[in-house]
Amino acid sequence: MTLFDVYPLNDVTITKAQGSYLWDENGVQYLDLYGGHAVISIGHTNEHWVKRIEDQLNKIAFYSNSVRIPIQQELADKLGKLSGKDEYQLFLVNSGAEANENALKLASFHTGKKKIVAFNKAFHGRTSLAVAATDNKNIVAPVNETSNIDFLPFNDEAALKGYFQTNGNKVAAVIVEAIQGVGGINVASENFLKLIRNLCDANDALFVADEVQCGYGRSGKFFALDHAGVNADIYTMAKGMGNGFPIGGILIAPYIKAKHGMLGTTFGGNHLACAAALAVLEVIEKDNLIEMSKQRGMYLINKLKSIDGIENVRGKGLMIGFNVPEDIKDLRKKLLNDYFIFTGEAKPNVIRLLPALNITRKQVDEFLDTLSEAIEEMKSVEVNAE
Ligand SMILES: Cc1ncc(COP(=O)(O)O)c(C=O)c1O
Repeated sequence: MTLFDVYPLNDVTITKAQGSYLWDENGVQYLDLYGGHAVISIGHTNEHWVKRIEDQLNKIAFYSNSVRIPIQQELADKLGKLSGKDEYQLFLVNSGAEANENALKLASFHTGKKKIVAFNKAFHGRTSLAVAATDNKNIVAPVNETSNIDFLPFNDEAALKGYFQTNGNKVAAVIVEAIQGVGGINVASENFLKLIRNLCDANDALFVADEVQCGYGRSGKFFALDHAGVNADIYTMAKGMGNGFPIGGILIAPYIKAKHGMLGTTFGGNHLACAAALAVLEVIEKDNLIEMSKQRGMYLINKLKSIDGIENVRGKGLMIGFNVPEDIKDLRKKLLNDYFIFTGEAKPNVIRLLPALNITRKQVDEFLDTLSEAIEEMKSVEVNAE
């Protein structure tokens, strides 16, 4: 049997990982500024995380949501404390798409309305509603097409106001990434996010914050939306939540009432996933990783701004992007193949940095030095070729 060939692969086989380092089958060491796509929040194979999963595995890994699972409540309590959203309710799922799917469905149940507002360059996942709210025609199958989703320009307050003037009473939810990830690290302005809050309030619509990539401490606050000083009605989470163990969740404001059977999942909230997620929160709390992400991020962004050859450095905390001009367009490949550094990308010309929140200052400096060297080398090859 062959694997269904949907992923363009780098020719690398990783066999071991620790903290922000990876090793391939030949023992070559890589520095990880990509975090497996913003997933690795507390570092690869974190000791506490491994132990908590092992301990849980030896007790019970899974039983269905038809019985009490106290570790879910333990996770909810810790999450409430660290996120500052203690009064919210938690529903556990398995992935980011599933989190968004349930969030939008819940918004529609709650409001009795159908329209969803999403934004240009948004990415919300690949299940039916999530993908319909994703601004990429190539991944929307004909069966996913729906007139229930309207796309508006990101950060355009006038367009949003205009839309609500004519359609406000039909809107069930506005879904937004406070920092767009796949779209290329585009930071929503605080005024734009506040306007979404006001318009949702005025029109009985729900504000859904997709924090799957930008949440969980990555931006230097628990949720990226926290920077704007407003609350969402529903927060969706996944990537950093399990540090690689599949788990997602949605935080639901207290005034949204649950009904038996309204939402459900077989695997969501299983014992093992909760143990992994609890370990992540325990490490974030103990090692003060949200503050660390803020400090390291400011340092990294400032240093990147002084590097010649890259453009438009932006982001918050350890969610950073910059543009790669045409003359060094293969920079990301070069960093991986010649300098053994993993970074992320956003098409067509953005490098995304999404390292573990506890990447060390030394590792950040190692990255910055190597980046400068790689750029200089690429430019000197260019000059010599002229
Ligand atoms: C903002 C955002 N939402 C949702 C998703 C989908 O998450 P998953 O791949 O876990 O379904 C992603 C994945 O990249 C994402 O970046």
